[in-house]
Amino acid sequence: MTRPRGALRVRVRGEGPQSYSVMVGSGLLGAEGGPIARLARGRDAALIVADAGLPTQLVEAVESRIAGVGVRVARVGVRAQERRKSLATLELVLAAAAAARLDRGGLIVGLGGGVVTDLAGFAAAVYRRGVDSVLCPTTLLAMVDASVGGKTGVNIEVGAAGTGAGAPRLLKNMAGAFHHPRLVVCDVAALASLSLRQLRAGLAECLKHGLVGAGAADAGLWGFTQRAIDRLAHEPLHERTLAALVGRHAAYKARVVAADPKERARGGAVGRMALNLGHTFAHAIETLPGLRWPAPGGAGPAVRGPLLHGEAVGLGLIAAADLGESLRRAEPGLALAVEGALGRAGLPTRVGGLPASDQVIDRMLDDKKVLGGRLRVIVPTRARRAALIDGPDRGLVARAIDRLRA
Ligand code: GLY
Repeated sequence: MTRPRGALRVRVRGEGPQSYSVMVGSGLLGAEGGPIARLARGRDAALIVADAGLPTQLVEAVESRIAGVGVRVARVGVRAQERRKSLATLELVLAAAAAARLDRGGLIVGLGGGVVTDLAGFAAAVYRRGVDSVLCPTTLLAMVDASVGGKTGVNIEVGAAGTGAGAPRLLKNMAGAFHHPRLVVCDVAALASLSLRQLRAGLAECLKHGLVGAGAADAGLWGFTQRAIDRLAHEPLHERTLAALVGRHAAYKARVVAADPKERARGGAVGRMALNLGHTFAHAIETLPGLRWPAPGGAGPAVRGPLLHGEAVGLGLIAAADLGESLRRAEPGLALAVEGALGRAGLPTRVGGLPASDQVIDRMLDDKKVLGGRLRVIVPTRARRAALIDGPDRGLVARAIDRLRA
C-alpha cells in the first residue's frame, strides 16, 4: 500500500450548485481508501478508460482500489493520439460501458493525458444521458488544464479521409459537451511514467496561464511559473515543485471557470476564452506533417513532427505575443521573453517545414472561435491579461507565423 504525500485540495465551481475537488499530491492513485475508492463506494460498477501506454502497475492499482470497495470494474484501453480522440473511439468506450452493464449510478474513470480525460469525460456526458466521472490526469498538461473545468469532447476529421471537401484536416474538439467530473485526482508521482518530452509539453500550458494570470487575480503566475521551470530544468521530477505548480495552476483555472463556466463572457469581457491563448495558432500547426526542430539544448539529431499539443501551444504563445506586440497591446520584447522561457523549458521555439503563412491562416479559420468567417485571436496584454482581437490584420498574423520559422 502506498501512502499519499502532501495532498492539497482546490475547489472548482461549475455551473449552478455543482462543485468538486481537484486533489493534488503524490501517491494518491494507489492509496488504499483514497479519494477514488471513496467516490466509488456504494456503486454497482465502474469503467476505467485508460491510456494504453500507461504502466500496467498504475492501472491495476486504480482498478484494485475500486474493486476493494466492492465495485465491479471493467477496463478499456485507448491509444493517446489525437486521431484516436474520435467518435469511433467514443463508440468503443460507450460499448464497453454498456457491455459492463454500467447503470445510471455507474462511474467512468479517465486515467491518462488530455486525449483520454476529454474522451472519458465525453463518454460520461452522453452514456445513459450522463453518469459521474472521476478524472485522473497522468500528464502535466492534463493536470493543469484539460481535466479541470468540465470541457469534454473529440476531434472531427474532414476532407479526403473524412467527410467534406478539400485536404484532410483534423478539427480539434469540434464535438463535445460541458460535463464536470465529480473529482479530479492529480498524482504527481504518475508523471514519472512520462517521457521528458511529454513532461515539458505541459509547461507550455503553464506559461499560457502565466501570460494572462492577472485576469483571474494571479498577476504573479508568470514569474512563479518561470521559477518552477528553472527548478525543473535541473530536476524534472522534483515532486514538491510539480505539486506546487499543479496546485497553483489548478487554482488559477478554477477561478477562470467559476467566472465563466461555459465560455460565454459577453460585452468585451474575454472570460474563459483567455485560456485559448496561443491555441488558434497551435491547432493549425499541431497536426502538420513534415515539421522539424532542433533537439533541446542542441543535443542530438533534429526532432521531426508532428508536434505534441503542448509544443504547438508554446509556438502559438510566441505568435500570439508577437501579434500582441504588433497591435501595441503587449509590451515590446514579450515574444522574446516567451521564447526564452520556452527554451529554458526545453520546448521548441522555431520549426522548419511550416507551409506558407496563407495556408496556416486558412487552417486557423477552422478554429472554434471563428464567427461569421472572421478570425478571432487572443493576445496577451502588458497587464498580464488577455484581449480578444476580432478580425486581426492578415499581414500581422502572417508576420507572427513567420516568426516561428527555423
Ligand atoms: N483548455 C481551455 C479551457 O478549459 O477552457
